[in-house]
Amino acid sequence: MAGKVLVLGASGTVGIEVLRALVKKGERVKAGSRRGTPVADAEVVMFDYRDCSTYGHALDGVDRICVIAPEGHLDPVALLKPIIQAAAARGIKTVLMSVIGVGGDDDPPHREVELFLEKTGAQFVIIRANWFADNFHGQWLESVRHGTIAVPAADGRTSFIDARDVAEGAASALTGDAFNGQVFDLTGPEALSYGEAAAILSQAAGRPIVYTPVDDETFIGLLADAGIPGDYARYLARRFQSVREGRAAIVTDDVERLTGRKPRTFETYARDHATALAA
Ligand SMILES: NC(=O)c1ccc[n+]([C@@H]2O[C@H](COP(=O)([O-])OP(=O)(O)OC[C@H]3O[C@@H](n4cnc5c(N)ncnc54)[C@H](OP(=O)(O)O)[C@@H]3O)[C@@H](O)[C@H]2O)c1
Repeated sequence: MAGKVLVLGASGTVGIEVLRALVKKGERVKAGSRRGTPVADAEVVMFDYRDCSTYGHALDGVDRICVIAPEGHLDPVALLKPIIQAAAARGIKTVLMSVIGVGGDDDPPHREVELFLEKTGAQFVIIRANWFADNFHGQWLESVRHGTIAVPAADGRTSFIDARDVAEGAASALTGDAFNGQVFDLTGPEALSYGEAAAILSQAAGRPIVYTPVDDETFIGLLADAGIPGDYARYLARRFQSVREGRAAIVTDDVERLTGRKPRTFETYARDHATALAA
């Protein structure tokens, strides 16, 4: 009988959906987070990436693990290496949540984590996701509420991906061996400008939401006003460079390769989250 699947970052945007997708597939699952938040009837385990004493209990009975770093963490290397090492030492397969573009120079720390995983010798799958559509009812929700999305994207386009598609891709990677050793770039089905995305969000929310392009310094200042730490704000501003240069506009068929179906459109995302967007 197959072992359990441990999902880390279990109560986060993607983790919840990974657990739901795994439960639907009939897997036995463990949900790991510091607070031990219950998710999708999973067995709850208290887990802290920074506290190795929490690893043993979390990994008991597990043969696959989904590693998702929390958003806003700037040192994924220090955070993730210890658990990746501990899982590999037990022969556990790891599916790692990474970031699109790290194969180039967009995000060297995330690439370092990927390389570390690849060299452990354990089975692995790497999922590199593009910007989540879910950011609009997550980290950009305050701006959406104020009716203005102010980001330094210029007229760059992004193939926003629904977190449910990221999660269902991860669940497929966790439950089949066909994808082992591979890297997947997960994107939505079409690349939209922030202006086009704002128009779709307006329709779903039932009130005007506009896109206002800003420069990096203005963006960092706005995030500071919203209480976001300066180093994370600067990291996000740097990531928008790849949007301005067109690298976030890539559209792949990797969701379909993993799940057998096409990714959700941005319209579907907006319709399904209309209540949160309209609040
Ligand atoms: N947002 C995007 O557009 C985007 C695009 C591509 C890739 N990504 C990647 O996706 C990941 C973020 O996924 P997400 O949005 O689902 O994350 P999230 O919502 O920020 O998830 C937070 C989760 O991590 C747990 N957590 C926080 N600190 C922890 C710690 N020290 N030890 C153990 N668990 C901890 C939280 O629960 P507790 O607080 O109870 O511990 C919660 O379950 C990041 O790695 C990011 O690079 C994001």
